[in-house]
Amino acid sequence: MTALLETKGLTIRFGGLTAVDDFNFVITPGELCGLIGPNGAGKTTVFNMLTGVYLPTAGTVHFDGARINGKSPAQVAALGVSRTFQNIRLFDELSVLENAMTGAHRHAKINLFDSLLRTPRHYREEQRQRDKAYRLLEFMGLEDRAGLTARQLPYGHRRKLEIARALATEPKLICLDEPAAGMNTLEKGELSILIRRIRDELGVTVLLIEHDMKLVMGICERIQVLDYGKTIAMGTPREIQNNPKVIEAYLGGE
Ligand SMILES: Nc1ncnc2c1ncn2[C@@H]1O[C@H](COP(=O)(O)OP(=O)(O)O)[C@@H](O)[C@H]1O
Ligand SMILES: [Mg+2]
Repeated sequence: MTALLETKGLTIRFGGLTAVDDFNFVITPGELCGLIGPNGAGKTTVFNMLTGVYLPTAGTVHFDGARINGKSPAQVAALGVSRTFQNIRLFDELSVLENAMTGAHRHAKINLFDSLLRTPRHYREEQRQRDKAYRLLEFMGLEDRAGLTARQLPYGHRRKLEIARALATEPKLICLDEPAAGMNTLEKGELSILIRRIRDELGVTVLLIEHDMKLVMGICERIQVLDYGKTIAMGTPREIQNNPKVIEAYLGGE
C-alpha cells in the first residue's frame, strides 16, 4: 500500500534546540497510528510541520503524492490534512453549529459574487454546509447542544466540537493533538469509540497524539515514540509497551 503521508529526515531547530530530529514516518490510507512521548518530546512540533505551521529546517513531507512542506496551512488543509489543537481553538461566541460550519466552509461551492448578492445559490450552499455540520455534530453526539455558544460547552464537549470542525473539512487525514486531555474516564471511553468510528465509518486516516496510554494502546495499530525530538521506538502497542527504551523515557520524565 502506498503511503498517504510520508516524512523523510524531518528536522526543526529553534535556536540551539533541535526540537525534532530526523523524523521518518509513514502512514497508509485507513491506518490509525499513535505518536507518543513525554512532554516536550516534539509531538506537537511534528504536527506543526505536517500542517504548514512550521517550516522544517530539513527534510520532506509528502502527502497523497505531493510534496507539502513549504505549503501554507490553508494549502495543506485544502489538500486534505486536518487537525485539532492541544490548546482548544474555538470561536467562543459563535454557536456550536456555527463552529462546526467554519470547517465546512472549505468546500463551499460559491464565489464572492454569490455571497455579496445573496443569490439563491448562496442560500442553498449555506444550507448544505449547515446540514453537513449538523450531521457531524450528530456523529460526535453534540446535536443537542447545537444552539449553545461554544463557551457554554463543558470541556470534554469542546474537544469533541474541535474534532467535528476538523472533520467538516472532509479530510483524508486527521491529526488529533491530545484529544482526551482534561476528559474524565467515561468521556475517554466514548472518545476512543468515536476515534475508531472516524476511521471505520468516515474512512478518515487518523494520527493521534495522546498521553492516556490506555486509550492509545487500545485503539492504535502502530505507534511511534519520540523522546527529546528523536524516534526511540516504533511498533505495535504490545511492542511499545514492552520496549525498555520507552519505559525508561517515561519513567525518566517523572
Ligand atoms: N516556536 C517555538 N520556539 C521555540 N521552541 C519551541 C517552539 N515550538 C516548540 N518548541 C520547543 O520544542 C520542544 C518540543 O515541544 P512540543 O512539540 O510542544 O512537545 P510535545 O508536544 O511533545 O509536548 C520543546 O522543548 C518546546 O519548548
Ligand atoms: Mg504537545
